[in-house]
Amino acid sequence: HLRPPPASQMEEVSLLRGSNCRAKGAAPGFKVAILGASGGIGQPLALLMKMNPLVSLLHLYDVVNTPGVTADISHMNTGAVVRGFLGQPQLENALTGMDLVIIPAGIPRKPGMTRDDLFKINAGIVRTLCEGVAKFCPKAIVNVISNPVNSTVPIAAEVFKKAGTYDPKRLLGVTTLDVVRANTFVVCTLTEFGICIITILTFTGTISKIYYLLCLQGEVLGLDPRDVNVPVIGGHAGVTILPLLSQVNPPCSFTSEEISYLTTHIQNGGTEVVEAKAGAGSATLSMAYAAAKFADACLRGLHGDAGVVECSYVASQVTELPFFASKVRLGRCGIEEILSLGPLNEFERAGLEKAKKELAESIQKGVAFINK
Ligand code: NAD
Ligand code: LMR
Repeated sequence: HLRPPPASQMEEVSLLRGSNCRAKGAAPGFKVAILGASGGIGQPLALLMKMNPLVSLLHLYDVVNTPGVTADISHMNTGAVVRGFLGQPQLENALTGMDLVIIPAGIPRKPGMTRDDLFKINAGIVRTLCEGVAKFCPKAIVNVISNPVNSTVPIAAEVFKKAGTYDPKRLLGVTTLDVVRANTFVVCTLTEFGICIITILTFTGTISKIYYLLCLQGEVLGLDPRDVNVPVIGGHAGVTILPLLSQVNPPCSFTSEEISYLTTHIQNGGTEVVEAKAGAGSATLSMAYAAAKFADACLRGLHGDAGVVECSYVASQVTELPFFASKVRLGRCGIEEILSLGPLNEFERAGLEKAKKELAESIQKGVAFINK
């Protein structure tokens, strides 16, 4: 359990000047900024990052309410020092020296909207914030959460290209919530299936009491959602969200009905939350959890931990598209390797074709926004 010293005693652990990688053996205290920190995602994400022992300094930036959020979070007795920044004039101070910048700034969906309907407003917000990153912390790793991610990541890339600071290894679209949902829904489906089998066996009198108890404790099914990993590739909207259920780890087999049900459920997870919140926004708590999980993976990579692999929407050559979500290995320089998609079954190959068509348009829209 790593515990950084107080900020006053922290040795300088920013990225090495002139290098794109972090120094080997540097102290495990990272400087993290959240842009959009007063929002539905920003606040619980700030709380979770304040609890992360790899974080020594946490900058909370927003155009509203950061003094209150910062005062509140700063009372948590964890190692990270918290500072608040309010409004555009304070963006420079919020960003200078940061190792990781997380961007959840922007408006969320209301029922009936697609993520692409957010483009008009969020594209400009992401552009402005990324211009700040290019100026004030060009070597930082950037995690883009603001929707539509399929377009906002290409927007960020174009901003960085224009500024001459673009490093594709350092720009990552956050699709972790799709993986988190997939892992949860797969376990629910298997557990429901297991309980259904148990019920049938119990009624037919062919099950022993001990087997029944083991099943109920999950020991026969043996599944905790945290131990399940479903790769989710493509992008982060509708059919571009493509769970690879043939590659679930630990290996599980599903009927074609289960595959079709699970795929739709995972693709519509965001919309289900938007409808349940009935106008009060989209996923914030599960998203903060997912964003904190992904940010932690980026920090562990920077710290030099081995074998840190997460799915993310990044500049990629695994398909003919310039951006694509797939498994990436994270390291001291950001993305160290983009893993291949692995074998896809027929259902997944068909899904991939649909996903690519929509993704191509969203990428083009983002690129055109900056170059128009
Ligand atoms: P929210 O409205 O609750 O919070 C957004 C925050 O951004 C607000 O505090 C607002 O003041 C701030 N903001 C607006 N313009 C800003 C600017 N120029 N600079 C700094 N801050 C600014 O929304 P939310 O629920 O937190 O969602 C934020 C975004 O995240 C939305 O676009 C949403 O669609 C997206 N989202 C993405 C995922 C994903 O999986 N990638 C999941 C959930 C939500
Ligand atoms: C999600 O997947 O929950 C987010 O992209 C928010 C949304 O609009 O669905």
